[in-house]
Amino acid sequence: MKNSVLITGSTAGIGFETAKVLANQGHKIYLNGRTEESTNAAIERLRNLCDKADIQGVVCDFSKPFDLASFPEGIDVLINNVGIYTSKPFSATSDEDWYDQFEVNCMSGVRLSRHYLPQMLASNYGRILFISSECAYLAPEDMVSYSSTKAALHALSRGLANATRNSGVTVNTLVPGSTYTEGAARFIEEKAAQQKEEPTKVAQSFIQAERPQSLIERFARTEEVASLIAFYAGPQSSAVNGSVIFCEGGSTGATF
Ligand SMILES: NC(=O)c1ccc[n+]([C@@H]2O[C@H](COP(=O)([O-])OP(=O)(O)OC[C@H]3O[C@@H](n4cnc5c(N)ncnc54)[C@H](OP(=O)(O)O)[C@@H]3O)[C@@H](O)[C@H]2O)c1
Repeated sequence: MKNSVLITGSTAGIGFETAKVLANQGHKIYLNGRTEESTNAAIERLRNLCDKADIQGVVCDFSKPFDLASFPEGIDVLINNVGIYTSKPFSATSDEDWYDQFEVNCMSGVRLSRHYLPQMLASNYGRILFISSECAYLAPEDMVSYSSTKAALHALSRGLANATRNSGVTVNTLVPGSTYTEGAARFIEEKAAQQKEEPTKVAQSFIQAERPQSLIERFARTEEVASLIAFYAGPQSSAVNGSVIFCEGGSTGATF
């Protein structure tokens, strides 16, 4: 079955990698970035990576009010992946920091789900996924606002799942841990340059110091996270609904 899949924040990182997996499975993919330029560049990259891929773009900056009329109809799979963060002490966070992160991380998913969930229920098939974070559990001191937005997604996701009773629609949340995206690589490489250290050493030290409960003791690769997201985006995950799925390598220390 060919699905129409919309992945927010998908010109890079976990979103792009997920698009790659799903495009290779033959699904129609809608990539999203903030600008025409970045979205078109990502479409081009994905087309070069996936033979015969059916890919389109939706340009939308979720930090600003957006018009749902510019979004495609007939979406079967909505992956609410876009997420931004600030790293600063709680006392230094402004209202604007909080509102920006809630707007992008939560309200994008609220508005898109409000639009697409009724359509999915009417067609009796659909998948909505929310991409949370280990921070929803760890709530690091410098990421209280980001962690709060991610924790909010869990209630949102479960609440929407409750509305799918006895239908072919499911709503679930995935919890990635530290993942070696382009953004993470930039962060590690900058630190490595400052410390005159090898990036691999710096990455290892970060996990040891900041994610001491990690059982994999490393960053996850984007493809490890993307393959799991793709499974829950697909028809075979039909008995999983209202769930929280961990792919954080044990970093949260959570037992359930
Ligand atoms: N990476 C990690 O270690 C990690 C760990 C746990 C959870 N997560 C979560 O996983 C998700 C993906 O993370 P990631 O690290 O792969 O993302 P990322 O690399 O930081 O995100 C980049 C993507 O987000 C898009 N984007 C940024 N702001 C946007 C906005 N206002 N509106 C629309 N698109 C926007 C970018 O588009 P353009 O630049 O093209 O505009 C690009 O496609 C996020 O929700 C994140 O919180 C990540």
